[in-house]
Amino acid sequence: MTKPVLFITGASSGIGLATVKYFVAKGWEVAATMRNIEKAPAGLKQLQGVKLYQLDVTVPETITNALGQALKDFGAITAVVNNAGYGAIGPFEGASEAQIQQQIDTNLMGVIRVIQGAIPIFRQQNGGVIVNISSIAGRVGMPLYSLYHATKFAIEGLTESLYYELRPFNIRVRLVEPGPVKTEFNGRSRQDLPTPEDGSYNGFVQKVNRAYGLVFSYASTPETVARTIYRATIRKGPVIRYPSGVMAKTLMVFNKLTPGSIMRLFTRGVLGL
Ligand SMILES: NC(=O)c1ccc[n+]([C@@H]2O[C@H](COP(=O)([O-])OP(=O)(O)OC[C@H]3O[C@@H](n4cnc5c(N)ncnc54)[C@H](OP(=O)(O)O)[C@@H]3O)[C@@H](O)[C@H]2O)c1
Repeated sequence: MTKPVLFITGASSGIGLATVKYFVAKGWEVAATMRNIEKAPAGLKQLQGVKLYQLDVTVPETITNALGQALKDFGAITAVVNNAGYGAIGPFEGASEAQIQQQIDTNLMGVIRVIQGAIPIFRQQNGGVIVNISSIAGRVGMPLYSLYHATKFAIEGLTESLYYELRPFNIRVRLVEPGPVKTEFNGRSRQDLPTPEDGSYNGFVQKVNRAYGLVFSYASTPETVARTIYRATIRKGPVIRYPSGVMAKTLMVFNKLTPGSIMRLFTRGVLGL
């Protein structure tokens, strides 16, 4: 029997890497894509059924090439996971045009490009699954994450619309919404936006970052998110949103039951604003 095949972006670390390992353990073959395959994590290449492909979501031809080559190598692609992304974090006022464009190009345009590349393949195959890694940041706004939110909220709308549009072709779309996760997101992947020089944001930034530091100390693991991605991928039916981790699940319930004005007062209370 042929194995199902996963195609994933940003497989070099964190949630992407954990997802590759989880799907392999579940008997899938995996096209693990990353910006720099020379820097692939040790042992990844040796995993049974895993092949590596160079793909930078901001460079369209690398997407076309990787999808085409993976299709040739595996014969089919069962599911695509749009995982690559990073956070440009800091006061909105200080962000440069280049920083804004890079955030949107990677987190939103990257997802759009991969989906556009995958749809013709899935239509040809009479089906497929697209899993977009959003975040609780795609549902609830928080200070200093404005550009990141702009991309994740956009992915939520994009996915919800595609649910209807792609259903006739037996293509399922999913959103996985993690809360804080212990990965490189807050390390080497994080881009700190400059704080305006007059110092007027300094106290605010310090206060908020202190609160976020505390929140991240309760972060879940990338393996937890990998499990959610797997569940979202194999599940049939109309549920498209899959919060991942205790914090995300709790916040989503609270968000559903609470008017926006109360949510904002609560958030200000938690952040001390
Ligand atoms: N960690 C969290 O708290 C959290 C919470 C909710 C959602 N998420 C989302 O989860 C996803 C994965 O993040 P993570 O937490 O696993 O962080 P991570 O460990 O920093 O992984 C991010 C991955 O994205 C890749 N990437 C960045 N820009 C890329 C580009 N232009 N083309 C291709 N790959 C690119 C990175 O590749 P390189 O190795 O080449 O840099 C890396 O593999 C992101 O979409 C993030 O927004 C994270």
